[in-house]
Amino acid sequence: MELIIQGNVAKNCHPEGLRLGIDKQINYVESHGEIYGPRKVLVIGASSGYGLASRIAVAFGGDADTIGVSFEKSPGEKGMGSAGWYNNIFFRRRAHEKGLIAKNFIADAFSDTTRNDVIAYIKQEFGGSIDLLVYSVASGVRICPDGTRYTSTLGVRGQAFSGPGFDLETRKMVNQTLEPVTERQLADTVKVMGGEDWQRWIDMLSAAGVLAEGFKTVAYSYTGPKSTWPLYKEGALGAAKAHLHATADHLDAQLQRINGHAYAVVCKALVTKASAFIPMFPLYITLLYKVMKQKRLHETCIEQMHRLMLNHLYPPMGNVITDDERRIRLDDFELRPDVQQAVELLRKRVTTENFKTIGDFAGYLTEFYALNGFSMPDVDYSSELDLRQLVKEYS
Ligand code: NAD
Ligand code: NA
Repeated sequence: MELIIQGNVAKNCHPEGLRLGIDKQINYVESHGEIYGPRKVLVIGASSGYGLASRIAVAFGGDADTIGVSFEKSPGEKGMGSAGWYNNIFFRRRAHEKGLIAKNFIADAFSDTTRNDVIAYIKQEFGGSIDLLVYSVASGVRICPDGTRYTSTLGVRGQAFSGPGFDLETRKMVNQTLEPVTERQLADTVKVMGGEDWQRWIDMLSAAGVLAEGFKTVAYSYTGPKSTWPLYKEGALGAAKAHLHATADHLDAQLQRINGHAYAVVCKALVTKASAFIPMFPLYITLLYKVMKQKRLHETCIEQMHRLMLNHLYPPMGNVITDDERRIRLDDFELRPDVQQAVELLRKRVTTENFKTIGDFAGYLTEFYALNGFSMPDVDYSSELDLRQLVKEYS
């Protein structure tokens, strides 16, 4: 059985490989410094990428009970289900073995019904309060509580921006273009990927009285080096992230009442389902991986989230560590001048012929495959999976 890729989107997954992927992340945090942090954690966007790694870090690097909210498909008539579906189940199994609460809500994070269900659960079965909320949703669509549907657009402000990128399906380098967004598209992207929904979670949880004294909340962001600004920071996604940063400051003030804090966390560029989707960005990631691996600075989601919890958000001594704009920076290694100079040198030399070797294309592929349970050592991919069996075991 093989991974099927269409465009830059994976179409299937392998449960056994996903299970081993969860185990691998758990092993990492269990052998890298105990987190004396939160005990009761709610993760919105918990089933993959940064959200999943956050959940693993607090549960297995520390001892946190967790609630995870995500939007995933179960195996059934429409196919074998999504990777995140299995991740939720394998996470819960390991957490239960450790004696921790691990509750999965497969539900729309943008809906008030979901928020009310989670609040009821916190009150009735989760001890009545939470002390950390991680907001890690990546989505192209948001249906607001008033029923309006917004879609986000990957695009630039000002002039169209073109450059080399690669297509995962054909494994060829292609020229990619980000078109300018309209004012309307820009505003809608901010609606989907900005801080409004994060704010609404905190407002409703706060009104319900389920935020513990000293409560903290984080949401994930990206800035990147100058070379990526036209396609990210200065584009529609960047505008949404700017809104998220402003929301963090607003929430921080609002949470003072309970000695709470809110932070935007600027993470490094990584291979995830969401980042594969951004034109030209995966090529930058291959160059970055090459350099960071050479300098032994490479990190994936789990290393980043472990470092976040251990050093920055719950430091053994002293205050939460931020920059002067009150943001937590996990992109410090990515943005190191020597790293970016080396990336720039590679970037100038990229051609359609050499792009697979000049950057860490193989590493990119391995991680992309692993997100879906493929390319894991010790998994037998030769046999086909039995859908009926999957439905029986996992739905
Ligand atoms: P991901 O695709 O791996 O995870 C997204 C999560 O959101 C999944 O759990 C998914 O189920 C959930 N989700 C999506 N729509 C939902 C909905 N309507 N209701 C409930 N859950 C929903 O993405 P990721 O890369 O981990 O991104 C998470 C955050 O990290 C984003 O804010 C992203 O911008 C940020 N970030 C990513 C990178 C990167 O390079 N990947 C870098 C910096 C910051
Ligand atoms: Na996530």
